[in-house]
Amino acid sequence: MLSAFRVATRSRGFATNAAVPGLTGAIGNTPLIYLKGLSEKSGTQIFGKAEFQNPGGSVKDRAALGLVLDAEEQGLIKPGGTVVEGTAGNTGIGLAHVCRARGYKCVIYMPDTQSQEKIDLLRMLGADVRPVAAVAFENPRNYNHQAREYAESLDNAIWTDQFDNVANANAHYISTGPEIWEQAEGKLDGFICSTGTGGTLAGVGKYLKEKSGGKTQIWLADPPGSVLTSYISSGGKLVERSGSSITEGIGQGRITNNLGTFVNDLTGAFTVPDEKSIAMVYDLLDTEGLYLGASSALNVVAAVELAQKLGKGSRVATVLCDGAYRYQSRLFSKKWLASKGLEGAIPAHLKKYAVLD
Ligand SMILES: Cc1ncc(COP(=O)(O)O)c(C=O)c1O
Repeated sequence: MLSAFRVATRSRGFATNAAVPGLTGAIGNTPLIYLKGLSEKSGTQIFGKAEFQNPGGSVKDRAALGLVLDAEEQGLIKPGGTVVEGTAGNTGIGLAHVCRARGYKCVIYMPDTQSQEKIDLLRMLGADVRPVAAVAFENPRNYNHQAREYAESLDNAIWTDQFDNVANANAHYISTGPEIWEQAEGKLDGFICSTGTGGTLAGVGKYLKEKSGGKTQIWLADPPGSVLTSYISSGGKLVERSGSSITEGIGQGRITNNLGTFVNDLTGAFTVPDEKSIAMVYDLLDTEGLYLGASSALNVVAAVELAQKLGKGSRVATVLCDGAYRYQSRLFSKKWLASKGLEGAIPAHLKKYAVLD
């Protein structure tokens, strides 16, 4: 018999083990992978939620589906309508898939600094891609503002607003969180992940904390150049953004509405240097056979550190956000890594994987 949360998630369109209705029905219900090698090496139990197995290839498929379903439920969009978002990455890919599957037009605004591959992929998925000048958020011509204005100018259109629309975090509260809890058999000492919009951390964190009666600690992991670790460690002081990271899709300069729903319930936060994330990209490949992007690698570094903090044998889960396929010309290129001062980050015995010049 289906448990109550499975019925709930099925009714919201997330995947179950039964046959599913089309692409959107295949989003979610990803495996929770026990990372055996890393667990044994660290004397802890580390689990990674295999979000790279979603149909669009990333954790952002859940946000895309959640944002569109929420707009439908509120009657904000009708069949044949237009979904508009400002995004350079995985959310656009997720939305493009969901829009094709549900009969909407998809318009993506992005800074004109993005790679041709990303633009081509979105166009192949049927999206109308509009590269615009890369200007700061404060500038009214910023791609996010242009996305909102364009949606407002149309009938039967929505701006999905992934950063501040909490339907994003809710998608994780009703799907990713319950899945992790059930897959971990209700035994989880900690959960940690990095944030872009904050939807994954806030939604999963809220569910796990409630379900465990506060026993599962929820932590945030940050790349360099993000202000969130200092915000959380200082009890709420927002500093100017400085520094940068090779990771993509994560790191923030502000508290988004999604993160804001949970930020005060976090136990703590720490920053993971790029050197450790790069080393973990290679280690995961070598030890676990997993080919993952840098945000996933950062999350796993953080999960191991948190588990070691929580003590021997402790059980910690994190998110394997997407595969390395979208970044391979960078992450596996000796020249690119050297240009970032990161060639030395690959452990000597793993350099054989850096096969691109
Ligand atoms: C590769 C990757 N990892 C992690 C994240 C962060 O997820 P969230 O926006 O739920 O914080 C994103 C978001 O775009 C992403 O693209």
